[in-house]
Order: sequence, then structure tokens, then C-alpha cells
Amino acid sequence: MSGTAEDTAIESLDRKAAAEELERLAGLIAAANAAYHRDDAPELSDAEYDRLKRRNAAIEARFPDLKRDDSPSDRVGASPSPGFAKVRHAQRMLSLGNAFDAEDVADFIRSVRSYLGLEPAAPLTFTAEPKIDGLSLSLRYEDGQLVQAATRGDGAVGENVTANARTIDDIPARIHGAPDVLEVRGEVYISHPDFAALNARAEAAGTRTFANPRNAAAGSLRQLDPAITASRPLRFFAYAWGEVSAPLADSQLGAVERLRGLGFATNPLTVTVDTTEAMTAYHDRIAAERAGLGYDIDGIVYKVNDLALQRRLGLRATTPRWAIAHKFPAELAWTRLEKIEIQVGRTGALSPVGRLTPVTVGGVVVSNATLHNEDYIAGRDARGAPIRGGRDIREGDRVQVYRAGDVIPKIADVDLSARPDGTQPFEFPALCPQCGSDALRDEGDSVRRCSGRLICPAQAVEQLKHFVSRAAFDIEGLGAKLVEELYADGWIREPADIFTLRDRHGPGRPTQLKNREGWGETSARNLFAAIDRRRTVPLDRLIFALGIRHVGETNARLLARRYASWDAFETAMSAAADRGGPAWEDLLAIDGVGQVLATSLVTTFAQGAERASMERLIAHLEIKDAARPATEGSPVAGKTVVFTGTLEKMTRAEAKARAESLGAKVSGSVSARTDLLVAGPGAGSKARKAAELGIETLDEDGWLSLIGDG
Ligand code: IVH
Repeated sequence: MSGTAEDTAIESLDRKAAAEELERLAGLIAAANAAYHRDDAPELSDAEYDRLKRRNAAIEARFPDLKRDDSPSDRVGASPSPGFAKVRHAQRMLSLGNAFDAEDVADFIRSVRSYLGLEPAAPLTFTAEPKIDGLSLSLRYEDGQLVQAATRGDGAVGENVTANARTIDDIPARIHGAPDVLEVRGEVYISHPDFAALNARAEAAGTRTFANPRNAAAGSLRQLDPAITASRPLRFFAYAWGEVSAPLADSQLGAVERLRGLGFATNPLTVTVDTTEAMTAYHDRIAAERAGLGYDIDGIVYKVNDLALQRRLGLRATTPRWAIAHKFPAELAWTRLEKIEIQVGRTGALSPVGRLTPVTVGGVVVSNATLHNEDYIAGRDARGAPIRGGRDIREGDRVQVYRAGDVIPKIADVDLSARPDGTQPFEFPALCPQCGSDALRDEGDSVRRCSGRLICPAQAVEQLKHFVSRAAFDIEGLGAKLVEELYADGWIREPADIFTLRDRHGPGRPTQLKNREGWGETSARNLFAAIDRRRTVPLDRLIFALGIRHVGETNARLLARRYASWDAFETAMSAAADRGGPAWEDLLAIDGVGQVLATSLVTTFAQGAERASMERLIAHLEIKDAARPATEGSPVAGKTVVFTGTLEKMTRAEAKARAESLGAKVSGSVSARTDLLVAGPGAGSKARKAAELGIETLDEDGWLSLIGDG
């Protein structure tokens, strides 16, 4: 590695140098992270740290296929999070060295042979299998029972996600005929159709969508609330193992077959190969089938099949000598950016989309690319630092498109030498292109939003689509397309109009639904009946259907459970406009409700037009109150509990969830209103304050026996 790599302009790096530089940066950043988080002894200034991360990201953007599995760009939240208990792996969870071409694969085989001292003619077999683009998980079974599930973390220490792993169908809770101790390792992932459905749901709910299935899988597994994990379509492929009390087999293939026999899903495309040619042929075949597999893969993994040889080969620092990942080449193509269009979403976000001259990228025809936001187009990141060397993107530019597991392709680069004469930098609109309202950008937000809300047709239509969607009112026969048509014709402009549709366009009216093109007596009657069936609605669905920013299904359920009736909810949201008042505090006291969500609720209810539209809707509905959680007989129902100090038998989040399920209110601070303090070792000021106030204090065991969990 050259000593001046640091200063080499990214533009002048070739592939080899770029790969080396990415490796160097990953090492530096990992060391800086460890110094900062683990040792509490930062070695780099924030600016220096950011500079390394930016340089890393810029090189990855130029060479997307060189992005490492341990890329610092993916590290957000990758180190053990304080919300989860830490788990030291009985055996380290490894990563893999990379090969990028046939030459690298041949080098790998040569190095294995030479390490083992094999004669040139001696046979050597490898398994070949897809490299799943998810996140690795280690499952520990003792006497056939799943006792622990842990993420990789930094390889040595991961997070205890047992409760979450138990919600995954592919992970058996109990296995028969396995060694007494067996750690099964594999990849948690989300399939393409499940991912699309998950994002569609998030979009309908106005909550954050995931950029790709891997992020979705990671985000879903690393949830403090297992109920959320359970609602996500996670799957698991087993491909390796950690500690075992007795060998599974004498070959890699045999061991994986054994795992399959125990009830684990294993990848059906796994084969054995013995030459570079067979390996690369397999690699090319799977690469060609990649788009149709139904899940993301980012390469092929070759492993020495003979486990006795694997043992002899052993490990380097973090990678085994007996395996390598043969990465797929980046899916890249050059094409012309014909136009930049601005789409307006349900919550008013203006999203620029690049319309491209269609081009094939990795077997898929691409004609759109996301351009993220105005900074991205201008060639700078959220902090104003240059990206793509500061090159902006203009209509007419020749652009390089890539797909890196993301749903929508991105633009990696711009060819300035091919820029047509007379082009102008793209001017991002300051007015909503749909309704002409001001499009404003909040401090610290990278997104510009239309301020027109309900008067903006784009927002109104998207809101209506959300309102009728599956998780909301779920009106059979009233889909997105029909909503658009009825909106365009002025038949339905807001949710309340759905419930007056029959009065205005039903039997005996001058313009009737049954006379629309493609409609008839029966279909019209069916739609009216479907609408009628939804005149009674559970409170949580109604709250979700309102399409309030940041209120997804989960939050809607929390709110419904807390306020129980529409009247109580509406009254509380109006009262909460008094920030700092009791209604506001009450709202924030709900586990899962933070400042951002609370602010969004309060502002929505303070908006006259929106409020009026809600009232018009409510007039047509019968709202079913939310059932309060069954807390009868709970010794802590209605009490305010504070947890402090270290809890040893549960995480703070678990303790809180358990207390709330028993009807207690959990607060972060001790006051005269506190009924009970649960103090673990290291409790400080809160314990002193509780003692001063004469508040009952229990240790963790005392708490567990009080609630009957001891
Ligand atoms: S074997 C020998 N096999 O890739 C070390 N890993 O870059 C154990 N991965 O952390 C890994 N598919 O998360 C292996 N078929 C596969 C894989 C696979 C995906 C991931 C795994 C690992 C990373 C290493």
C-alpha cells in the first residue's frame, strides 16, 4: 500500500488502488470507532473522522462493486447498541476475503494448495454457493433448544436478539437429533416480493421506507420490540456453524445437508466444484440468474469442502484461509439523463427523479434513477461537502447508473466531457410544481416540502390512496387507480367523500357510478356495499388512515391504546398544543412517542382545514374504542415506575415494555408522582431522590417477584 494513498485524488485511483484504499480506510475507521465507543478515548478529531468517512463513501460511489462487507458506510448502528445485551461469541464470527475476477480465484486456489502442500494433481474440492446480502446471525442450541441468537457485531461481541430471532419462521425453536451444543450460523434476509410489500406499507403509512432489502432486514432484526420484528417478513439461510459439541459431518456440503435435515433452510443452489473454470462458470451462471432469484446476493462464496482441510488451513485475523467471496461486478451502465422531474409525495416531499434513456443494468432495463434531493443534484452532501468531486447533474448529461441492491438505481458519476453546450445547473423549484404553494426546507432537513397540504392535489390524492389502503380502511374495489380517476373527476376529493359517494353518484342521481366506463349495476352496488362495511372502524385503523406524518401502524396502535376513544384522542391532541402542559407530557410518556411524532400530531390537529376534513369524515363513522390492555389483578396497574442503575436480567427496553403491559406508566425521572423505583447496581441521584421523597424502592429481583416473574 503506498504511503501517499491518503492524498491520492479519487479520480486517479485504479481498481486495485481503490480496493486497497477502501481496506485501509475501513481499518482506520474501525480503529477510531473502537477508540471512541469502546475505550472512550477518541483518537481522531470529528473533522478528521468525517473526512475519512467521506473519502470512503466517495471511493465507493466511484467503484460500487468494491464496497466491502465491513464498509464503514454501513456501520450506522452496526456496533452493539446499548439497547441490546452484549454477547461474546463462543467462536468469532468471521468475514470473508474478496476475489473480483478469475485471476483472484486462481490465486485463492493456489494459496490453499500451497498452504496445504498439495501435489498439483491432488484433487481439491470446493463448495460454491450464493453470498446472501443480508446480515449474519448466530443461533445457539443447547440440548436441542434455541437458547440464544446473536448478531455479528464486531465479530467478537454481538447483540443478543434472541426474542427477535424467535419470531422468524425459518428459525426452529427446538431441533431434534443435533449435538448437545450447536451454533448455527447463517444470513437473515428479506425476499424481493416481501421487501416490496414492506416498503409499500411503509410508504402508505408515510413512515420511512428502506433503501434495500439488507437495510430492511437489519432494521427489522435490531428492534427493541420483538413484536415489530414479528411483523416483518424475515427469512434465514443456514450456511455455517460456530461451536459444536460433536462434528456435524466431515465435509462442508455434508454439514450443510445435516443442518437442512435438522430443519434449517439452506440454499438450494449450493454445488461442489474443483477447478477455477467450474467456479467462474458457476459464478457467471448465478450472476445471470441473479435478478430472478427473489432475494439479493452480492457474489459467490467458495469454501474448501473437506472439513479436515478447513481445520488445517485455519484463520487469518478475521477471515478464514479456506473460503473466499467472489463478488459480482458492479451493475453499471452509461446513459443519457433526459429530464429531471419532481414528484410530490403524500407528506409533500419533493423528490427529484431522473428520466433516463432506457439502458440495461445487470439484466434489468432501467429508465428512472433517484436523484435524492437538491444537494445531491448540485454535487454536495448534507453538510455542503462535495460529492462526485463537486460535479453537478444536469438535464442532458451523460450519466453512469448503478444498481447496488437498491430498489431504485442511482447515479454514480457524470461525464463532464460529454456535457452538451449551453446546459444550465438544475434549478430546484421553490414552489410546488403541483399546486404552486411554497416548497420549504426546514433547518437541517435535506428535503423540500410543499406547504399546500390538502390544497395540493398531489398530496390529496396520495392521502386518499393511503386512506383506502390495506392497513387503513381497506375498501375492497377502491384501489389507487380508481382513487386517481375519481379525484380527477371531482367525485372524491377527501376521505369523507367516499362515504357520501352513493348519495351523490348512486341510484337515481344524474351522474351514476354504474354508468362510468367499465362499470355496471353489479360492480357499482358492490363498491357501495364495500364502503358500507367500513363505516364501522377500529380506532387504531382510523388514526393510521389519517395519514399523519410519522404515524405508522405501530404508532397508531400505541395512540389508540393510550386514548381508547376518538373523543379522548382528539381532545388530548388539541390540549397537547400547550407544549409542556400535562396533555403534552402525557403524549410523550407513551413508549415509542418522541418529540418528532408528538409535534407532527399536534400541528396536524391545530390545522383548521385538516381538522374540518377530519370532522366531516368522523360524522360518517362509527368508531370502535380500543381495548385497554388487560391489567386486571396487576400489582402495578396505574402506578408510575422509574428504572435506574444496571439491570442484569433484562434490558431497560424489556423492563419498560413489561411494566407497561402490566398497566404501569414508566417515567424517566423521579418526582413526587413516582410510586416505585426499581434500582439496579450503580443507581445514583435517582435513588437518592427517591429516598428523600420516601418512595418505595426495589432491586431487580424484588421487582421481578412483585410482578410474578421472579
Ligand atoms: S460463510 C467463513 N457463506 O458474508 C465465514 N457467508 O463477508 C462465514 N454471507 O459475515 C461466512 N452469504 O454475513 C458465508 N453463503 C455464505 C454467505 C455468507 C452471505 C455473509 C456473512 C459473512 C459475510 C462475509
